[in-house]
Amino acid sequence: MTRGKFIALEGGEGAGKSTQARLLAGALAARGIVVVETREPGGTPLAEAIRTLLLQEGEGPGLRAEALLFAAARSDHVTRVIRPALAAGLWVVCDRFLDSSRAYQGGGGGMPDKDILSLHRIGSEGLLPDLTVLIEVEAGVAQARTHARDAGQSDRIGGRDAAYHARVAAAFAAFAEGEPDRFARIDGNGSPEATHAQIMSVIKLLAVDS
Ligand code: TMP
Repeated sequence: MTRGKFIALEGGEGAGKSTQARLLAGALAARGIVVVETREPGGTPLAEAIRTLLLQEGEGPGLRAEALLFAAARSDHVTRVIRPALAAGLWVVCDRFLDSSRAYQGGGGGMPDKDILSLHRIGSEGLLPDLTVLIEVEAGVAQARTHARDAGQSDRIGGRDAAYHARVAAAFAAFAEGEPDRFARIDGNGSPEATHAQIMSVIKLLAVDS
């Protein structure tokens, strides 16, 4: 049995990841590929419960507990959903994965990258996507989209200040620059269709490799 491919979509708030995850999963399915479409934090009952704890309004956990909770949610998701799907030859399209922890709790929050990677090694035995699609949008475009979507009701992390989100975006860009083989950088400022077309052109390369 050929192992399936694992594709993660990453980016800041309002990058259009969820729309692109849906479009990508649909396009792969139309090509006869069996796809598991999932998200983080989430994807299992335990991880969805942790998602609620992490994102609900209120004081919330401190930085270290926040990083541990994201890693715990990821551990359950990897063990119960992602690894079994890949082993069965299915493809996994995941809306956010490890690089969100590195960018938000690391770049945004200040947790050292090596600590986040240690948590990932312990929780998920270091599993990495075959390809991480980083969707990048200008801050003004992202703000307009999140405003239209959330009507000012963003979640606890999405609602952090502009400086935090600028650090997140810079961290994502630095990871993509540092690991060009693992990342594909996509310009998400245009229409959903234009972004989807760019993503499909990088996915073709992945399918040819398999
Ligand atoms: P979203 O999936 O609707 O974008 O919401 C998830 C929020 O959680 C978003 O603000 C990013 C944040 N997040 C982290 O801070 N660290 C993580 O590891 C993940 C997966 C998400």
